[in-house]
Amino acid sequence: MNILSIFVALFGNTRSKIAFDLIVRQHNVFAILNAAERAVECGRTAITVVEFGVAAGAGLLNLCKISQKVTKITGVEIKVVGFDTGAGMPPPRDYRDHPDYYVTGDFPMTDFDALRGRLPANAQLIIGEISQTLPEFIATLSSSAPLAYIVLDVDYYWSSVECLKILAGPSDAYLPLVLLYADDVAYQDHNEWQGEMAAIGDFNKEHAMHKIGRLNNLSQARYFRNATWLTQMYAAHVLDHPRKALERVDGGTAMLGNLYLKWRLPVRQRPAGDNGANKKGRAISPAFSFFPV
Ligand SMILES: C[S@@+](CC[C@H](N)C(=O)[O-])C[C@H]1O[C@@H](n2cnc3c(N)ncnc32)[C@H](O)[C@@H]1O
Repeated sequence: MNILSIFVALFGNTRSKIAFDLIVRQHNVFAILNAAERAVECGRTAITVVEFGVAAGAGLLNLCKISQKVTKITGVEIKVVGFDTGAGMPPPRDYRDHPDYYVTGDFPMTDFDALRGRLPANAQLIIGEISQTLPEFIATLSSSAPLAYIVLDVDYYWSSVECLKILAGPSDAYLPLVLLYADDVAYQDHNEWQGEMAAIGDFNKEHAMHKIGRLNNLSQARYFRNATWLTQMYAAHVLDHPRKALERVDGGTAMLGNLYLKWRLPVRQRPAGDNGANKKGRAISPAFSFFPV
């Protein structure tokens, strides 16, 4: 697989490089492409991507660069928004903020002017305490550029609680599934009672129709199945989204094909006494099969 990666790195296109985890900050590039593809399925031409916790701005500029690549591939316009105090971490409030890891003033924005000067026209940097700046921003979210991806990287429990309020707005402000990368959930010390994981748990307790869970079936769909970022990827499911309404938006009837009927394939009968298990009693179910049986 590693040798194949070298070949893809040299000759592959953007999509294959993303599949082989060859673009820096793999979580961002996977999520933005995935979100843009979901937007196309929903008939959207623009989406919004948010980073909570910007610090020196490497993550925000990475999001901007990736967004440009993804817009080229998919045609979806991507608005990128970063939130930060600008002065580093605020004071922790209690044990849930991991005061064992972080102290007031950690991760300041080292050069605000330089960072702002590098931001492209589709990006915005909102400076201030998130509990103060976020409500006004939420009011601007709409179905014309629904929220599609969140990077949660504010480290503290209480800051994360504030950030996740972005998911409590009206349902059409979102794609039906909003991807969420939680940066601080992968150490052995991270747990459901502190930090970002605790904030996600509390969000779910408080919201009946917007729920955050781990992104399902992710590692099975990747070439590098043990990459850490796969364990940090969540999905916010907007259960009251218009596309999940009982009345299907796109109309029409879904149909399933049947190869047996199409090609008149014989249906093999099981001999008497064959109960579908091998001699040890284990069910016979090939992982991969070309032929219907
Ligand atoms: C680990 S740094 C972010 C690193 C950045 N995402 C990157 O990839 O380079 C965490 C940032 O969260 C910001 N932060 C934490 N709590 C905040 C709050 N309540 N309001 C605004 N910013 C906050 C801090 O200022 C700090 O810069």
